[in-house]
Amino acid sequence: MADQPEKLYAVLRESWSDDQFIRLTLSKLRKGREAATRVTIRPVTIGGKAQLSFVSQFPTKDITKNYPFAEAEKRIVGLLKDTYLIANLFTTEKQIILELRRNGKATLRTQASKITDDLPARSHDRKKKDWIADKRFLVELGILNSSGNVKKDKGDKYRQIKKFVEIVDGLVRQQPALKDRKPLRIVDMGAGKGYLTFALYDYFTHTLDRPVEITGVELREALIKKGNDIARSLGYKGLNYESGFIQEYKLPETDILLALHACDTATDDAIYKGINAKAELIICAPCCHKQIRRAITGSEDLQPILQHGILLERQAEIITDTIRALLLETQGYKTKVFEFISTEHTGKNLMIVGQRHDRPVATEKLLEQIAAIKKRFGIERHYLEGLLES
Ligand SMILES: C[S@@+](CC[C@H](N)C(=O)[O-])C[C@H]1O[C@@H](n2cnc3c(N)ncnc32)[C@H](O)[C@@H]1O
Repeated sequence: MADQPEKLYAVLRESWSDDQFIRLTLSKLRKGREAATRVTIRPVTIGGKAQLSFVSQFPTKDITKNYPFAEAEKRIVGLLKDTYLIANLFTTEKQIILELRRNGKATLRTQASKITDDLPARSHDRKKKDWIADKRFLVELGILNSSGNVKKDKGDKYRQIKKFVEIVDGLVRQQPALKDRKPLRIVDMGAGKGYLTFALYDYFTHTLDRPVEITGVELREALIKKGNDIARSLGYKGLNYESGFIQEYKLPETDILLALHACDTATDDAIYKGINAKAELIICAPCCHKQIRRAITGSEDLQPILQHGILLERQAEIITDTIRALLLETQGYKTKVFEFISTEHTGKNLMIVGQRHDRPVATEKLLEQIAAIKKRFGIERHYLEGLLES
């Protein structure tokens, strides 16, 4: 009969090949051993290949190393022989706890798995694409807990992140000029905590094995430091956060310009910089629409709409974003405007996408349409128009 560690290794192999492996932790150092207090091993997809990621926890830092399964298994056997006394294996079906004693004896306990809400991160052979290969950044950013499960109040954010990666993936595939662009240069204006920039970095680097350089531009120093610290600790070369004010930021050569939930006219400033940089894709999710809200005067017949704050608000949103889309078209971009996540998850869910093309543009007709809208609502100028005319 196989001994207790062998039984654990057999379940490890089986759960790996059936894509049921969630994680394995090794803990309780053998006497006299100086090593990481704990090693957590999880599946990741690196360059399209399923591997095991070993995160070794030391008092002041974590060290991560990834190995193909066969090598990982050898390391696990070695670590249990020489360094650790407890192994805790979680699969989608069960949890197995192996306790080794100093006298050489061992016990093995099996219980039903309590982990139900998040399956392993091996996107390559999952029926539904997961969009995220290396979930460690989600743990660092507080979306997943340390066991790799989505925190109770972070489900919406998690879905939003995955949806966003899915959208960008589709847009990049539709843009012929981006097909062979290496590295793909992405700038995120007003990156905030960096959820979306981390997710794009992970997707292009680990799932597509495609070089990217991603810069998050942000005002708040604490967020820049945190983003850079996490990126460095995970070894994410090519992902950087920079201090900058969108309006003054000198945009380098950029393939994809992002501005998600940048306030009011900061979205226009970002779009304008993207146009000037000839970005192939300009992707923005506008936030508030104060400029046009204040600029709407409207004639007598529009008063029933304009007298109600919420209706004026929605009217301002529609006008602001319609004119943004038309102005993008005057600059040689095909535009799409759509809801990128259902309103049930967030109110700020409108996305404007500009896809650069080299076809002739019916500029005059577009400018006439803009003029007619402005006239109807008594608007003198849209902020983005001013930028483009300057
Ligand atoms: C609402 S958050 C959105 C964060 C992220 N883009 C997202 O959608 O999850 C807006 C972020 O933009 C930053 N921000 C606002 N105005 C800015 C400006 N003019 N220049 C640079 N960053 C700005 C804020 O500090 C904040 O972190």
